[in-house]
Amino acid sequence: MDNSAIKLAVIGYPVTYSLSPLLHNHWIAERGILAQYEMLKISKGTLKQAIPKLIAKGYRGFNITIPYKQDIMNFCERIDDTARHIGAVNTVLIKDGKLYGSNTDTFGFTESLKQSGASFAKNHALVLGAGGAARAVTYGLKQMGFKKITIVNRTLEKAQEMAQDFGVEFNTWEHREIAAKNVDVVVNTTSLGMTGQTALEFDVRQLPGHCVVCDIVYKPLYTKLLSDARDRGLQTVTGLGMLVHQARLSFLNWFDIMPDDSDVLQHKLQHEIEEHAKKAAAKNVEGAA
Ligand code: ATR
Repeated sequence: MDNSAIKLAVIGYPVTYSLSPLLHNHWIAERGILAQYEMLKISKGTLKQAIPKLIAKGYRGFNITIPYKQDIMNFCERIDDTARHIGAVNTVLIKDGKLYGSNTDTFGFTESLKQSGASFAKNHALVLGAGGAARAVTYGLKQMGFKKITIVNRTLEKAQEMAQDFGVEFNTWEHREIAAKNVDVVVNTTSLGMTGQTALEFDVRQLPGHCVVCDIVYKPLYTKLLSDARDRGLQTVTGLGMLVHQARLSFLNWFDIMPDDSDVLQHKLQHEIEEHAKKAAAKNVEGAA
């Protein structure tokens, strides 16, 4: 890397695959900025030691992924309101040797829903899952003005805790389809349906005809939930929008520039996702042989 280039990265463990470098390096190139975004593995238990090294090397900032989204908060000089509500930081700006944490996932989700062109009332939303992504989505739905939000989760205590934190309702995982009666928007925030994971069992026939169905999973682009919903003629929103829009806000944090989503970028991402899926499938076949 050119020594004078602005350094950025996604940090986590293991960070074997991330679309963040593609996104940020696309915008960096588009704007002709001398910068480079890379993936950095930070072994378990070494975050504390890694931070001064990143500062010393002159990093302007970084994204944080599993397992450090909560841990990083202990090292931030300041944390924005969204990150505090969600309880996780996904973006850090380094300024004068200090870390400023924020969370861009809520913006990513709300912007994706708005830009999808889907039309919906804001009476009732159902959130499947109660992890970090669910917290970002629920916070966004609240900001959008949904009157009622219901959380359902496999581990009931986590749904209960989230419901209390956000002042929303909860139900059991087993009752997810019953809870979906009359909802305007349903969002899958669990990892179910992702390539290599089991599919989410959800009978979309239980959803009202006006319901918008969102999945934050983008690998595959159309999960079983989304393709079932599409087959039923429901409006669908893939996880790719959230991925792009959260990255746009991170980029703004670092460069004071809000980059655009574009057809070129969408094609690049979809191509990359397809190529990665092909490679993973070939590896599985190889492994099975
Ligand atoms: P993230 O930060 O990406 O949201 P997470 O905090 O690990 O990741 O949350 C994953 C979510 O997927 C949780 O709601 C989890 O349910 P539990 O709280 O019961 O673990 C949900 N999830 C994962 N595997 C699941 C499965 N097989 N069935 C139902 N829910 C599942």
